[in-house]
Parts: sequence; structure tokens; C-alpha cells
Amino acid sequence: MPVTRLTLHNFRNYPELLIEPGPGFVCLYGENGAGKTNILEAVSLLAPGRGLRGAPLGEMGRSDGPGGFGIAARLDGVDLGTGTLPAAPERRQVRINGAPTAVNSLAEWLSVLWLTPAMDRLFAGTAGERRRFLDRLVLALEPGHAHYAARYEAAMRARNKLLAEPDGADPDWLGALEAGMAEHGAVLAQARARTVEALDERLSATPDDGFARAEIALAGWSECDLAGVLRANRGRDAAAGRATEGPHRQDLLVTHRAKGQPASRSSTGEQKALLLGLVLAHAELVADRRGAPPLLLLDEVAAHLDPGRRAALFMRLEGRGQVWLTATEPALFDGIGDAARFHVASGTAEPA
Ligand SMILES: Nc1ncnc2c1ncn2[C@@H]1O[C@H](COP(=O)(O)OP(=O)(O)O)[C@@H](O)[C@H]1O
Ligand SMILES: [Mg+2]
Repeated sequence: MPVTRLTLHNFRNYPELLIEPGPGFVCLYGENGAGKTNILEAVSLLAPGRGLRGAPLGEMGRSDGPGGFGIAARLDGVDLGTGTLPAAPERRQVRINGAPTAVNSLAEWLSVLWLTPAMDRLFAGTAGERRRFLDRLVLALEPGHAHYAARYEAAMRARNKLLAEPDGADPDWLGALEAGMAEHGAVLAQARARTVEALDERLSATPDDGFARAEIALAGWSECDLAGVLRANRGRDAAAGRATEGPHRQDLLVTHRAKGQPASRSSTGEQKALLLGLVLAHAELVADRRGAPPLLLLDEVAAHLDPGRRAALFMRLEGRGQVWLTATEPALFDGIGDAARFHVASGTAEPA
């Protein structure tokens, strides 16, 4: 479902902004620092979570504005809105068709996937970053995922707190929290396993068209009696100040399929190609499974591809829903036939 109208209010460098994109490619070009990534970040906040920068909400309100910000988007048949109020700049509010609702409900309307320069380090980075990336892939397929993740984490936080009590924790209460972690954790882990399996299958069936193909698997935790494990780990977890085992320790293992080598040991260029191939394959999977392609946000991706791969990318994305692209120069979009092009400069985005 494409965004047909996007308005920003005191978001980042924009006092006010209105963009009316078309259903296919949306090309944003402008100098460094013009505010292109800020626009993609606003679109990424139409899904649950912290957006494509993973930034605190308090940073998003325009720095010389009143505090708080607003983002509104019109899609076919639904109006989505999100933002913060000046009085509570750390609390995200969401409205669907004008009615206040839970942040996680956004996932039922829209799937959003993105690729940003900051993700170049994903394979060499921490398991936590890869897990968050994986959870976004899961969420695009299964809108309920954010809810279970939140319930699991809430139970885990409560257990950590209880274990830290100086006079010892009430075992019944601990048991109840562990049962909650086990229940929601099983749903989480199963959803991740389903996504990894389906995506790996899709990757193996994707023709090799210049975007290196990944082989993916889960590590760090496999399904078992989580409540039993947690009960047995109480002493150890109390000493560590956290739960040492569970689905919150899972990691996404990525291997370069043709070379049989871990992605973390591939060259920077190969890693970019692997990630791009992964996101494209996932977008196609989401389109098949949900009957609508996800919104794709590709930040500075064109600049890092040689002209041949750039052409291959545009061809592969043609007709696959709304794809937002950024670049410093409009020439990097050459080869895209039909696109809505915008020149981003000094707090505006003018149709070009
Ligand atoms: N909360 C904020 N208030 C005002 N300006 C901001 C805020 N956050 C970021 N900016 C400004 O936004 C600009 C960066 O925008 P960005 O979208 O990253 O640029 P680019 O076009 O290079 O992607 C910087 O000049 C930065 O100072
Ligand atoms: Mg940028």
C-alpha cells in the first residue's frame, strides 16, 4: 500500500513538509545534510519500533521547535498518524483514521523495510543489531510479532528486577514471570524460525543476478523448556543481573552462499550486496504472503552500486510497490522509467 500523501510537522529539520508521491519509485535527491534520510525516517515511523535510525523520540522534534512532532500519511483507505506531544516528547502516540491506538497496531496496515548506510556494519556488529533486523523481517510477515516481543521483554524485565531484590525473590512470582517468558518466548522463536526458513528457501530459489545470495540460519537459542531453563538459571541470572539464556539471545547467521563463507568475513562490497539481496528477497516474500509489497526505503543505495548493478536493481524493483530512494545527484536515478522525483533542499522537497 503506497503512501499517497505524507506531511511532517516539526520533525527533524522540517517545520512543515508535504509530499505527494506516486505508487512506484519515489526519488529524493539533494546535498548532504539536506534532509533526505529524515524523510525516510519519518516514513519508517509508520511501522512499530524506533524507526530507521533507532533514535530516541526526544531527538526527532525540530531542535528550535516547540518540542514534539507529527507525521501523517494517507494510504489507500487509511490515514496513519504518529508523533509526540511537547509535554511528553518521549511518548509515541499513534492514530489510525483519527482514533488513538496502540503503536503495534501500525503493523497491521503497513510493512516497511529499509536499508541504510549504517547497516553496512550489520554482519560485523552485535547479535542484538542482527536480532532487531531479523525482528523487522518477521514483523513484515507477521504483524503480531511486535506484541509478543513486547510481552516477552516486559516479563523478562520484571524477572530481572525481582531477581535483584536484596531479600530474595518470591519463588511463586518468579515462576509466574518465567511462565510468561516461556509462553511469549515460544511464539517469538517460532515466528523467527518460520521467517528464516521461508526466506532461506526464497534465497536459494532466487536467480543469481549480481546481488550476492545469502544463506541464513538462527543461532543462540533453540526451542526447549524455557521455563525449566529459567528456573535452573535463577542463581546465575541473579548474579549476572539478566537472563543469560532465552530467545532474546538469538542471532541471525548469514553466509555468502556461493563462497560458503560467513558474511562477517566477506568484503565490504560483498556485505552490501548480501544485505541488499536479502532485503529484496524478503520484500518479494512479503508481497507473495501478504498480497501487498512492503514499502521499501533504500537510503544512499544507488551511490554504492556500479551502473550495471544499479540498472539490475531498478529492474528488479520495477512494479514492486512503493520504493523510496535517496541520492546526492539525480543522475544516480537514471534508468528508472516512471518515478516521482523530489529535490530536497532547505527544509523543502519540490517535485522535479
Ligand atoms: N531534531 C532536529 N532538529 C533540527 N534539525 C535536525 C534535527 N535532527 C537532525 N537535524 C538536521 O537534519 C540534517 C540531516 O538530515 P539528513 O536527513 O540526515 O540529511 P541527508 O539529506 O544527508 O540524508 C542535519 O543538518 C541535521 O542537523
Ligand atoms: Mg542521508
